[in-house]
Amino acid sequence: METVVSGIRPTGNLHLGNYFGAVKNFLKMQENYNCFFFIADYHSLTTHPHPADLHGNVRQVLSEYLAAGLDPEKATIYIQSDLPEVAELTLLLNMNAYLGELERTTSFKEKARKQPDNVNAGLLTYPVLMAADIIIHQASKVPVGKDQEQNLEMTRKFANRFNRIYEVDYFTIPQPFNFGESLIKIPGLDGSGKMGKSEGNGIFLAEEPESIRKKVMRAVTDSGPSKPNSPVSEPVQNLFTIMEVVSKPEVLEQFKDDYAKCTIRYGDLKKKLAEDIINFTAPIREKIKTIASDDAYLRKVARKGREKAHESASKTIREVREIIGFKPF
Ligand code: TRP
Repeated sequence: METVVSGIRPTGNLHLGNYFGAVKNFLKMQENYNCFFFIADYHSLTTHPHPADLHGNVRQVLSEYLAAGLDPEKATIYIQSDLPEVAELTLLLNMNAYLGELERTTSFKEKARKQPDNVNAGLLTYPVLMAADIIIHQASKVPVGKDQEQNLEMTRKFANRFNRIYEVDYFTIPQPFNFGESLIKIPGLDGSGKMGKSEGNGIFLAEEPESIRKKVMRAVTDSGPSKPNSPVSEPVQNLFTIMEVVSKPEVLEQFKDDYAKCTIRYGDLKKKLAEDIINFTAPIREKIKTIASDDAYLRKVARKGREKAHESASKTIREVREIIGFKPF
């Protein structure tokens, strides 16, 4: 069976866009592949999180993914920093990663611009750590969004380079995961573009009903259809698109019909949309709360993941040390 690896940043909460995007893909992958999903807490240190926040963030993100359906019986779910082998492989790969290529990475240049007072070496070697995450399990597939394509290209480069330098055919060269059918892209509430984490644009799985109502009621619309069957503007189409995934088909049809006949009232549309979003997210929100407060369960999940991940990672490290020429006395 093919191996898939993906890292999850422990920053930001899951919103509906993630749920119908990355999370949906994870749920499909865990059915058909040998999956390793981990919370990338080593990576998060590049922005210097406060020690008091780190664990809570990891716990929340882990709880959200578990509530959304990641299954520790099917996938190996672990915390990156529970796998020090990853740090060792990063150190070894660093010896063959060159300053020039690391400095040219788009994500490094962007980060350096965003945090000019903290251009640390971890930022520079972020792609090396990511490569170690992936090749430590000999992954053949990595699900990547547009923003991670270059990082995966670096992984392929480092894996190939290792094989070439040591004249071995050791590391599997990972490919980007290709999802046959395309997913519905969930738009934001601010009139254009997809749902993100910015305030007002996104609806979070853990969000309280009152806050969801407020956001939806404030969503951008337009001044209404001026004549029958006029084309639907982007902001209104966006609300219809969200309705498509949370409401009954006949509800959406009714509002589209009202729009075509110029009888639509955006206030009613928003009220219904808010209630349907709340009904959709309520069970997930409850599950997040239950999981996040269940220390024993989280400990069990993390331990099981750590053990399975360690088994795979320690084998790789043992073999890499041998290839490199380290020998025990
Ligand atoms: N860099 C990824 C992101 O920002 C997270 C990540 C870390 C990752 N290690 C990975 C993704 C390994 C895939 C594989 O989203």
